[in-house]
Amino acid sequence: MTLLLASSWGDMDPYFGKWREMLVRQPGGIEVRLYPDELGDVADITAALVWDPPPGLLAGLPNLKLIQSLGMGVDHIFRHDDLPAGVPVARLVDPDLVTRMSEYCVHSVLHYHRDADRYDRDQAAKRWNPVSYPAASTRRVGIMGVGAIGADTAGKLKQLGFDVAGWSRTPKDLPGVVGFHGGEGFAGFMQRSEFVVCLLPLTAETEGILDAGAFDLMPFGGGIINAARGGHVVDADLIAALDSGKLGFAKLDVFREEPLPKDHPFWSHPKIRITPHNAGITNPVTAAAEVAENYRRAMRGEPPSNIVDPARGY
Ligand code: NAP
Ligand code: GLV
Repeated sequence: MTLLLASSWGDMDPYFGKWREMLVRQPGGIEVRLYPDELGDVADITAALVWDPPPGLLAGLPNLKLIQSLGMGVDHIFRHDDLPAGVPVARLVDPDLVTRMSEYCVHSVLHYHRDADRYDRDQAAKRWNPVSYPAASTRRVGIMGVGAIGADTAGKLKQLGFDVAGWSRTPKDLPGVVGFHGGEGFAGFMQRSEFVVCLLPLTAETEGILDAGAFDLMPFGGGIINAARGGHVVDADLIAALDSGKLGFAKLDVFREEPLPKDHPFWSHPKIRITPHNAGITNPVTAAAEVAENYRRAMRGEPPSNIVDPARGY
């Protein structure tokens, strides 16, 4: 029984080295191999812990009982349609990662709420220009996807006094959060949301959801914070909405192509702020116990936790 750590991103050390160190320490110990150098006999591999696995790798592991995502998202696994049939795919739901993500979103909302860019410009020009700003209670923030991360973010923004709405596939009842769901709730949600925070999984249904039609619905001068996946945004539509003044800002952590190509217009757009997909990086120190527990369950023939529905894609 062996767990394979794999990614198509090439050399993942020292990150994978830290994962191995943490997994080996778990109760019962886990034999860990790093792909590609330590692959060895594929018949030994019973679980795979992956981020963007190399195409064909998982289908070639005959005794696989668990495919465990290294992150909360699983689109990097479902991207290829060559997954071995019947092997459960599980995602991580690590409280440490949830906290990092909601911290990113709250920080981004506060940044635009307090018009922080204005004071960067004023400082550069040695300009003393105090400007009043609206109360948080008058700011309408919309969270797209109120799952593990979205619900935590909504709760923290509520605590800070913002007027928060959530949009999900199925109805939700989060304290103090105005609920919208499904296709029928989308327009009303976008129309009220001055700040849209995207925390959806990337699926066939959510791909390209932040397009010209969605931006048109938003209040004039609003903006988006995308910490989910680059595929949610139609890049050209975002640039057009920012250039026309319809949108006032975009904060982006994730991109259709990562690393973001050097010639991509997002890099130099004055209304876009970029972070390099580090809103929430999985921490092996906090997440290894969950992976180890799932591994033990799968080896005992029990269903792992946080299993993903392949038909839904999340
Ligand atoms: P989650 O718990 O699965 O929640 C997903 C939410 O999206 C749920 O509320 C779900 O609705 C909603 N949703 C899904 N499909 C929808 C649709 N078609 N229409 C409306 N709502 C829909 O996901 P999570 O753990 O919060 O993570 C969200 C995403 O964050 C991940 O998939 C990943 O891509 C991204 N992420 C990014 C980073 C980073 O560093 N940038 C780190 C971690 C995660 P229901 O509740 O009704 O099912
Ligand atoms: C990171 O992007 C994750 O899905 O955890």
